[in-house]
Amino acid sequence: MATNQSYDVKFFSGEEVPLELHKVRIVQKLNLIPIEERLKAIVEGGFNTFLLTTKTVFLDMLTDSGTNAMSDNQVASMLRADDAYAGSQSYMRLEEVIQEVFNCKYYLPVHQGRAAENIISKVFIKPGDVVPMNYHFTTTKAHIEINGGTVLEIYTDEALKVKSTHPFKGNMDVPKLEQIIKKYGAAKVAYIRLEASTNLIGGQPFSIANMRAVSKVAKKHGIMIVLDASLIGENAYFIKEREAEFKNKSIKDILHAMIGLVDLTYFSSRKVSSTRGGGICTNSKEINNKMKDLVPLFEGFYTYGGMSIREVEAMAVGLIETLDETVISQSPKFIKYAVGELERLGIPVVTPAGGLGVHIDAGQFLSHVPQTEYPAGSLASAFFLISGVRGMERGTISSVRDANGKDVLADIELLRLAMPRRVFTLSQVKYAIDRLNWLYQNRKLVGGLKFYEEPPVLRFFGGKLKPTSPWPQKLVAKFRKDFGDSL
Ligand code: F0G
Repeated sequence: MATNQSYDVKFFSGEEVPLELHKVRIVQKLNLIPIEERLKAIVEGGFNTFLLTTKTVFLDMLTDSGTNAMSDNQVASMLRADDAYAGSQSYMRLEEVIQEVFNCKYYLPVHQGRAAENIISKVFIKPGDVVPMNYHFTTTKAHIEINGGTVLEIYTDEALKVKSTHPFKGNMDVPKLEQIIKKYGAAKVAYIRLEASTNLIGGQPFSIANMRAVSKVAKKHGIMIVLDASLIGENAYFIKEREAEFKNKSIKDILHAMIGLVDLTYFSSRKVSSTRGGGICTNSKEINNKMKDLVPLFEGFYTYGGMSIREVEAMAVGLIETLDETVISQSPKFIKYAVGELERLGIPVVTPAGGLGVHIDAGQFLSHVPQTEYPAGSLASAFFLISGVRGMERGTISSVRDANGKDVLADIELLRLAMPRRVFTLSQVKYAIDRLNWLYQNRKLVGGLKFYEEPPVLRFFGGKLKPTSPWPQKLVAKFRKDFGDSL
């Protein structure tokens, strides 16, 4: 099909509907339990949506990580897995695909994205180094810091504006990058990190024009660029949609253009190929050799890297499918639909619609809840309570305390409702929007949270909190008043 072919389907009615271009062949029954049982579940889970079991969850919008739907061809490929500790043919197939999709000569397999971060940080960071990046991701930051490095975020002024029409909020601020290099000296910059479809600011892409400008600066100073490609498919889709030069280019051309501008690429396959696993790839033998020995030490042999061979097969097929615009545009199109509806209802939501999920501005939604009482965490809990929809807190709870034990308040308090690829139907998305609308009308009933169990590292995963007042009970009573005996 010509690359300038549109994949949009227009409705005669004029309504903008993100039509599914796939059919459902395997289904999983969902549980929608009464609100009183959900109250018990969220209390037991310490008002932390990570600690809920899916028995109590209706729509799991926690993440797209490892939850995207697999295709028939991916599942079929698992049956031809060549299980071998070393030299598996499945691995050879994956290597070929990596070369085709990412245009990379060398590939190192790892069990998931953060395992790549572990290896890259161990090899390239010395204590006292800095790592400039467009924005941090939680696991990335933890790995850099544990190796003695410091994360410096160099985003543009537009990045943290909730309401924006800027097509590339994930861009790096190039003049600021120059200042940082001048301030610390190039020798102290371990590498520059660019994260595709920048997760924590709302799945926002960067442009190739911006990558080119970053690359020019990096080359001038002899600094390596590392690309986090976990959400590269969606970023490539946005480039095609929003960057005029690439309007008629294929997704493959765009991926090659992106990867050609960096020295090292790593990814979580839990996102990019709708499987599990991950990888690190590069065209530099020297860079590859520096990392290679850590694969058998931390992950597994060179030809499986901690992944099951079945995953290796499914990953190869999934990466090829990433080149299919109807696959990678599905989630952004559903997100765009939901963001449009939420805006119409006056609910504060990050714009423009990005990749990964819908991002609600919890700071504004619950403007009466002080940031020290974690509005994004409260909103995630309240929304689960009244709907059974599980989102993820992406605010101060996902941050860390400073050396004095004080909370470092997040730049923005977001509730992320992930839209895993090809998982939900439009009526399910409409249900989530409807319940969010009800919650917005009743937002004053929602209060704050405080920790009673707080792990020192990545506290958002296992930490437990409790409400600062009996607001959850009040919310349940109002729900029953308005919805009667409805689930
Ligand atoms: N980089 C980015 C941009 C990510 O979004 C993630 C994971 C990772 C690295 C780490 O990869 O989970 O395979 O170890 N993001 C998930 C999320 C957890 O829910 O957004 P991993």
